[in-house]
Amino acid sequence: MAEPAQWLQDKIAEHYAKSDGGSRRPTIDLSKPSVARVYDYLLGGQNNFEVDRLAADMLNKKYNGGATEVCVTNRRALQRAVRYLAGEAGIRQFIDIGSGLPTQQNVHEIAHEIDPAARVVYVDKDPIVLAHGRALLADNRTTSVAQADAVNPDSILDAADTRALIDLDQPWAVLMASVLHHLTDEDDPAGVTRRLIERMPSGSYLFTVNLLREDHPQAGAELEAEVVSQVGSGYMRTWDQIRRYYDGLEWVDPGLVYANDWRPTDPDRVGGPWATVMVAGMGHKR
Ligand SMILES: C[S@@+](CC[C@H](N)C(=O)[O-])C[C@H]1O[C@@H](n2cnc3c(N)ncnc32)[C@H](O)[C@@H]1O
Repeated sequence: MAEPAQWLQDKIAEHYAKSDGGSRRPTIDLSKPSVARVYDYLLGGQNNFEVDRLAADMLNKKYNGGATEVCVTNRRALQRAVRYLAGEAGIRQFIDIGSGLPTQQNVHEIAHEIDPAARVVYVDKDPIVLAHGRALLADNRTTSVAQADAVNPDSILDAADTRALIDLDQPWAVLMASVLHHLTDEDDPAGVTRRLIERMPSGSYLFTVNLLREDHPQAGAELEAEVVSQVGSGYMRTWDQIRRYYDGLEWVDPGLVYANDWRPTDPDRVGGPWATVMVAGMGHKR
């Protein structure tokens, strides 16, 4: 497969030349896997490199297809959450933090099936997401993509790109699917969600999906070390730690559960040996 590295570097150069004369331009690091590109590969995407495919294949080999199962489970739970938010909950503003590369059935596509005027801000720290996102969304006035780090939620909420699409005084939903487990304990993931929740107006929502270190017989330090060594991050946390992400919110039924059990709709259900390693939940601010 031809590597689209040059195309990407050009896209990134183009974007940064427009925004700040090119001085902050990042390059795509092909010496090690990136979470966004490994995830893209595991979901069947094309925006990945040899180094990413090797890491993903290693994990799948060692854990009998577990890496693919976990990614598909996560993605489907996120898609069901967006359908619920745009449908039953009537949410029209979404901030998708750690959004990953555009793939099939993206958040804005699902939301736009319900209301074409729904607005989505995609945020990811990986420059490859910015490059592909800008290309995909070039003509979309309801959707934008920004490069930012989840560890600083104020910088995301206060960014001009966010303010251009999201009225922070009206209810909004934050989506953090499989991103908080890429933050270290020092990054304080519970502090990140606390700050987001503090700034939410009443009627807003938080949806997260996380790796669980309890329940599955292979979950724990060894699996965590393997994931971190292959993709650079992926910290498994306990039910209690994950529950704390929602302090100050009311649970949306069915609360914090295995991701497959979060409002399942056949034939969406993945159901496999790794089902107990991913939990999902949605909180609502009264
Ligand atoms: C496993 S992917 C999940 C993508 C998407 N949320 C989904 O559920 O389909 C995790 C994404 O989080 C991004 N990410 C990891 N740490 C981040 C951080 N500190 N700030 C912003 N994005 C981050 C990665 O670059 C990657 O694209």
